[in-house]
Amino acid sequence: MTVAQTAAAKRVSYQLDTLWDFDYEPTHQELEALYETAKKNQWNGSTAIDWSRPVGREGPVLNVQVAFLGTNFFPSLTEEERREVEIKVSAWRLSQFLHGEQGALLVASQLVNPIPELDCKLYASTQVVDEGRHVEVFERYVKKLHKIYPVDPLLKGLIDEILASELWELKLLGMQMLIEGLAIAAFNLMRRQTGDPTLADLLDYVLQDEARHVNFGYFALKRSIPAMEPGKREFLEDFAFKACDAMYGRNERTGFRSVKTVWAEMGWDAEEIWRDTISNSQTLKAFNRLLFTEVLIPRLQRLGLMSDRIEPRYREIGLLD
Ligand SMILES: [Fe+2]
Ligand SMILES: [Fe+2]
Repeated sequence: MTVAQTAAAKRVSYQLDTLWDFDYEPTHQELEALYETAKKNQWNGSTAIDWSRPVGREGPVLNVQVAFLGTNFFPSLTEEERREVEIKVSAWRLSQFLHGEQGALLVASQLVNPIPELDCKLYASTQVVDEGRHVEVFERYVKKLHKIYPVDPLLKGLIDEILASELWELKLLGMQMLIEGLAIAAFNLMRRQTGDPTLADLLDYVLQDEARHVNFGYFALKRSIPAMEPGKREFLEDFAFKACDAMYGRNERTGFRSVKTVWAEMGWDAEEIWRDTISNSQTLKAFNRLLFTEVLIPRLQRLGLMSDRIEPRYREIGLLD
């Protein structure tokens, strides 16, 4: 990358309307309770987590044995290679969450401006603080574990599109519903699989906050989508489909493929291992089932974003029966 390309990759330009709300009238009853919980459950990343422990020594960070169950390449690795894969794949994956948390921070701070109602603005203000704290703890953990890997191009592309959109509804859909939906599913899986107490504590705290963020997005969209003009709703439907299609890793053009950096670092055939993982990893299959068929698609249906127009496209890619 040239210097100019590197600078451009860091910048997102957009135009956004900022709205005042001089009514001071509550509009979302559910948000009142959510805002109270958000204020009550603040925590300090420096003191809530015991950072004095060595990371990845008391137990595996991510259980790679489980993660790569069913693949052809994993059983033939030596003990030493497995350990190296564990540290590197964990650092790669947690780096993507770190970048995702920074993206959530940027989107949450934007949301304060264009959302019309004050109670939404107040709730969004608490999410800004939450996401700042998440960036802090993930950065600290990843640096302690190994190193920060570059942001995955798919993740960066999705977040940039969310940041550049002038529609607050698309920001909520893209970040609070889809990306944070993915993050919660992945955090829950990691939480069950990890043997590292520092990561377990970190995930417990972060998950508490993330559950509120998804609720915020859901409450606000649930109220706005029924009244939305059809063209705008179709635009949201198309974005949701595009994001699901891209995130559903099933071939050479979908999924978060920058994990190949790790395989290249190991000196292995990165393309071959990617193909092996997407075709054979039992955990990846179970994760995709959970994420798409149990979490994201039912949520899009409840929001009214799964119309007869868009449904066949989900069926085509195997995400709906
Ligand atoms: Fe977060
Ligand atoms: Fe979040």
